[in-house]
Amino acid sequence: MASSFAAAFGLKDEGLLQTKGYIAGRWRDALDGATISVSNPATGEEIGTVPEMGVKETQEAITAAQDSFKAWKRTTAKVNRRVSLSFERVLTAPNLSIQMISQKFWEAPSANSVPKTHELNLIQTLENGKTLNDAKAEITYSSSFIEWFAEEAVRTYGETIPAPVPGIRNVTVMQPVGVCAILTPWNFPSAMITRKLGPALAAGCTVVVKPPPETPFSALALVELARRAGFPDGVINVVTTMKNVGEVGKELCENTIVRKVTFTGSTAVAKLLYSMSASTMKKISFEAGGNSPFIVFDDADIDAAVEGAALCKYRASGQTCVCANRIYVHSSVYAEFASRLAAKVATFKVGSGLDKETTHGPLIHDRAIKKVEEHVADAVGKGAQVLIGGSRLEGPGSFFAPTILSDVPPNVRLSNEETFGPVAALIKFETEEEVLKLANDTQYGLAGYFYSRDIGRVWRVAEALEVGMVGANTGMISSAVIPFGGVKESGLGREGAHGIQEYMQTKLIAFGGV
Ligand code: SIN
Repeated sequence: MASSFAAAFGLKDEGLLQTKGYIAGRWRDALDGATISVSNPATGEEIGTVPEMGVKETQEAITAAQDSFKAWKRTTAKVNRRVSLSFERVLTAPNLSIQMISQKFWEAPSANSVPKTHELNLIQTLENGKTLNDAKAEITYSSSFIEWFAEEAVRTYGETIPAPVPGIRNVTVMQPVGVCAILTPWNFPSAMITRKLGPALAAGCTVVVKPPPETPFSALALVELARRAGFPDGVINVVTTMKNVGEVGKELCENTIVRKVTFTGSTAVAKLLYSMSASTMKKISFEAGGNSPFIVFDDADIDAAVEGAALCKYRASGQTCVCANRIYVHSSVYAEFASRLAAKVATFKVGSGLDKETTHGPLIHDRAIKKVEEHVADAVGKGAQVLIGGSRLEGPGSFFAPTILSDVPPNVRLSNEETFGPVAALIKFETEEEVLKLANDTQYGLAGYFYSRDIGRVWRVAEALEVGMVGANTGMISSAVIPFGGVKESGLGREGAHGIQEYMQTKLIAFGGV
């Protein structure tokens, strides 16, 4: 299958098309031979299959990670940094040989080793639907996590703490937490893995990755590149599953060998994993659902606010946890903002991500379309107007027209639930106090955005928004260097900056008799 897939889509490096799980350094089928069908959301056609693994394969993967942890945890930070940087290099230039990388890893890539991420972009576009440009941006985003955490590996300092009594010296050391379970979503098939894999490996942990069934090929390509970069067998293991996800998730959360569970996805699943992980007191970090408010005050730079909203709302066709779900616009600038945003959205070209003209790809599957349709119907039923879009696009694939709803009343479903689709809901407000109340009236607290040129208001609103991340006069906050994460029911822990701590334990060593 791999070679026909590779040939059909013009992939030059066939080794990147892996179609099996990965346990203890071996590509593996499911024990019972069962498979999962993976399809292209732009056409609905099957592009390949991966194994439908279950509890037994998961246990094998956990054991492999446990065995390799014995040696990997002793790897010096310097070696660890070097292997991670090699991974970053193969990720951005997969056709470089490992010899070239280890001889010249400190040099900038030469003109003839320009990053060749085409294969990875193509795999991602085929299984996720995002445009080739967005896929390219994601691969850059993915590799930035590996690079950031490679540099963090050598900075996991301990402390000396003055003792309150004579004769004692208190010292702390940072140690890897152990085997980590990594569960990731389909909306960023690479970056959501490297955001977790980067710190786990840099900290000296070993991992079992469970990628989503919609986008397993990007995950498997990453693992192939990590293997080429020099990570030893068993350090990274991948279990692919769909129907058996309940039992696989349970095993990952309840197995005593696993010491950490990290997940990006819905709040409902995060709660389930949280409760299952409690039985063995695992360390956890969860990036769960969002329902971001985006506020345009009367003193905003409207040009900037329109650009920010278009990017924040429609990035990945609205399928990001941090995208604006509720757009509050002051009544005095409402009409202008709405018409300018509609003019911007009218320039979008929706279609196959493989088409160079396409700016926005499909939604991941029909279930995603159904939820968006329900949210639009609910809002329209309660009085909202469709300014542009509003429905599914005819033809094969799961395409939904970029949509703007105006005059959205406050009591609609999309005020309380994550829509995860290309629908901008415009809600009018009059006062700062009123809009902050509306913005914070949700159980979610991932990101929040606002536009204002009043410096006092910028501080007040940034401090008052009940979220983990604020974009003040920007619609784009994401990068490897920020502390990414939410408050309330949007998650626990932070990824990116300081994120390596989530994969380490602080150990005290008290020296007596000094
Ligand atoms: C997400 O949607 O979960 C992540 C988005 C990002 O990293 O910007």
